[in-house]
Amino acid sequence: MAKPIKTLVNGLYNLRDWVDSRFPLMKIWNEHLAQYYCPKNFNFWYFFGSLALLVLVIQILTGIWLTMNYKPSAEEAFASVEYIMRDVNWGWLIRYMHSTGASAFFIVIYLHMFRALLYGSYKKPRELLWLSGMALYLLLMGEAFFGYLLPWGQMSYWGAQVIISLFGALPIIGDDLSLWIRGDFVVSDVTLNRFFSLHVIAFPLLILGLVGFHILALHEVGSNNPDGVEIKQNKNAEGIPLDGIPFHPYYTVKDIVGAAVFLIFFFAVVFFAPEMKVPGTQGLFLESANFVQANSLQTPEHIAPVWYFTPFYAILRAVPSQLGGVIAMGLAVNLFLLLPWLDRSPVKSFRYRGRNYRIALSLFVISFLFLGWLGLQVVTPFYTWLARFFSVVYFSFFFLMPFYTASDKDKTVPDRVTT
Ligand code: HEM
Repeated sequence: MAKPIKTLVNGLYNLRDWVDSRFPLMKIWNEHLAQYYCPKNFNFWYFFGSLALLVLVIQILTGIWLTMNYKPSAEEAFASVEYIMRDVNWGWLIRYMHSTGASAFFIVIYLHMFRALLYGSYKKPRELLWLSGMALYLLLMGEAFFGYLLPWGQMSYWGAQVIISLFGALPIIGDDLSLWIRGDFVVSDVTLNRFFSLHVIAFPLLILGLVGFHILALHEVGSNNPDGVEIKQNKNAEGIPLDGIPFHPYYTVKDIVGAAVFLIFFFAVVFFAPEMKVPGTQGLFLESANFVQANSLQTPEHIAPVWYFTPFYAILRAVPSQLGGVIAMGLAVNLFLLLPWLDRSPVKSFRYRGRNYRIALSLFVISFLFLGWLGLQVVTPFYTWLARFFSVVYFSFFFLMPFYTASDKDKTVPDRVTT
C-alpha cells in the first residue's frame, strides 16, 4: 500500500478506536450487523424490510427540501406547490420523488406484510415485532392522509372532508370528534396547519422511533425464514446458528442489489409516469382533480381516496349504514393485529401448511385486490354487491382462521432450513 494511503487508513482506525473507547460503536456494529446471524435461505420476499427503510429515508430527505419552499396556509399552499414544480431548481424532481415515494412506501409495505402472512412471521416469538409493524402501518396511513391535504387541491380538500366527516357517524361523540379533528366546521386553514404539523414533525418522529423498536425486537428474537424453522435451535459449539450467516457482508450486499433494482423502477416512474395515469383512472399516484385548487363551494364529480386506501374504502361503501361502514372499515384495518392469536396452526411457513390455509390466503389476496379495484370505481348496484361479496371473503379469512388452521392437515417441517 502506498505510504499516504497507509497513513490515512491507520488514522481512520485510530479514530474508530478513539470513539470506541468512549461509545459502544463496535459493540453495536457487531451485535446488529457483523455478528447478527440471519438464516441463509432468505429469498425475494426478504428485500422489502430494507426497501422500506430506503423509502423512509427518501421521504424524509425530500420532505425536508419540500418544506423549504412550501407554505402551510390555505391562501398560499396550492401556489407554493406550483412554485416548487416550476420555479425552484430541481423542485419538480423533489416533489415527484416525494409523491411517488408515498405510493412506493405502500407497495413495499404491503409486500412486506404479505411475506409475514406467507411465512407466519407474526407467530410466536415474533408477536411484539408484528404489533410494532402494525403500529407502523397505522402511523403510515395517518402520515399519508395528513400529507395528502397539504397541496390543497380539490381532491386533498374533499378527500379530507369526506374522511373526517365519517367520524361524525359515531354515536354521542361523533360530531364533536370531527369538529375537534378539523378545528373548524369545515376543512379550513386551521385544519391545514395542524395536518402540516402532524405530517412534518409528530408522525415522522413516531415512525422513526417505532422503526428503531421494530429492528430491536427483530434482533432480539431473530429473523424468521421461508422454511419457518427457528435457526437458533441448531447452534454449533461456539453458539453460532448452523443455518445462519452474518448479516454483514452477506445480506448488506444482497440488499444493495435489491435497492439498485428498486431505484431503477422508482425513477422510471418519477421520470416517465409520476401521476401513474393507468387507463380508467384519473391518476393513481397523483389525481387530476388535485391540479385544481381547493374550492369549498364545488365538489368534484368523483371523490375517491388514493389507491392504497381503496380496499378499506370499498368495505366502507359496501355496508348500507354509515356507522356500520365505519365500524367494518376500522375492523378491516385492525384485525391484522389479532393474527398471532387467531392462527392455531403449529406450522409457520406456507410451504408446510395444509390445504385450508393455502386456499384461505389465496382467497384473501384476491379479495383484497378486487376491493382495491372496486374502491376506485364509481358506485353501481352491481359493484356494491361485488364489494359485499369480497368483504365477506375478506372478513372470513380472519374470523374463520381459528377453525381452518386448527383442523388443517399440515406437512412435517424439516429440522434445518432447505436451500
Ligand atoms: C416503516 C415501516 C417498516 C420498516 C422500515 C420495516 C423494516 C423492517 C426490516 C428492516 C426488517 C428485517 C428485514 C426483513 O425481514 O425484510 C423487518 C422485518 C419484519 N417486519 Fe417490518 N418494517 C416496517 C413495517 C412493517 C409492517 C407494517 C409490518 C406488519 C404489520 C412489519 C412486520 C415485520 C415482520 C413480521 C418482520 C420479520 C419477518 C421475518 O423475520 O420473517 N413491518 N421490518
